[in-house]
Amino acid sequence: MSLQNLLITEAGGIRTITINRPDQLNALNRDTIAELDQALTEAENDRGVRVLIITGSGPKAFVAGADIKEFAHFSVEEGKMLSAGGHKQLFDHVERLNKPVIAAVNGFALGGGLELAMSCHIRVAGDNARMGLPETSLGVIPGYGGTQRLARLVGKGKALEMIFTAGMIKADEALQWGLVNHVVPQEQLLAKCNELAVTILKNSPSALASAIRAVNAGFEPGANGMQREIEEFGKCFGTADFKEGTSAFMEKRKASFTGA
Ligand code: COA
Repeated sequence: MSLQNLLITEAGGIRTITINRPDQLNALNRDTIAELDQALTEAENDRGVRVLIITGSGPKAFVAGADIKEFAHFSVEEGKMLSAGGHKQLFDHVERLNKPVIAAVNGFALGGGLELAMSCHIRVAGDNARMGLPETSLGVIPGYGGTQRLARLVGKGKALEMIFTAGMIKADEALQWGLVNHVVPQEQLLAKCNELAVTILKNSPSALASAIRAVNAGFEPGANGMQREIEEFGKCFGTADFKEGTSAFMEKRKASFTGA
């Protein structure tokens, strides 16, 4: 499968995936979602990749939502399948990836775009970013995890207000809400994401993967977050990274992790 809708670059263990449909404001059609699924699987299986950055092409949009033109004539059953397929291929896939994923929100992050940013582990926004869940203005609800992830990130009241009003908030308001981790001038956005990625990739890949699984478990219905933490903590003691990290501390040198 060749990737028509993505640009992928890599430097020093940081892989950047750019959604590249700028004339459609990077709207997520089914082909783009399938390509992202493939790109995520490849990144997951490539030990050389330590941190991912996901962003949108062009100065205007991160992702302006699911592709409205594609689903406008869907039936009830097709709508349900669209949502379920998206969850599996993209949104849950990002959230459960075994390495940290940073969203570089470089403009409009609306509907599926905000849902994609919320699936990432960390969000950094450019100061021109605008975020919202406008689905109710189209007669639907957020169907790519937005009803759940927004409430988790900002609380039920603010989430319902955003969904009810179908409005957009600016980057500084998103920072105040806790929806994004950082806001930086647009021209510094990728540099800031890379700086964060460089800090993260000094740490143990196997411990980072364990941390993702433990934190996620706290938000999964039926999962026991504390129990998962105990299991993941214990598992770390069997890794080469743990031996390297503790040896490096005692030998007063920098650790060199492999992820094993
Ligand atoms: N799905 C499909 N196409 C989209 C899209 C989406 N979610 N968002 C933008 N586009 C397309 C537009 O149709 C237009 O394509 P065209 O030139 O072939 O007509 C192109 O991207 C540029 O968008 P345009 O609306 O002309 O830009 P704008 O600057 O006037 O407005 C937005 C920007 C983001 C406010 C506006 O595009 C918008 O409201 N998009 C839909 C957002 C949305 O409801 N997302 C949730 C979907 S569930």
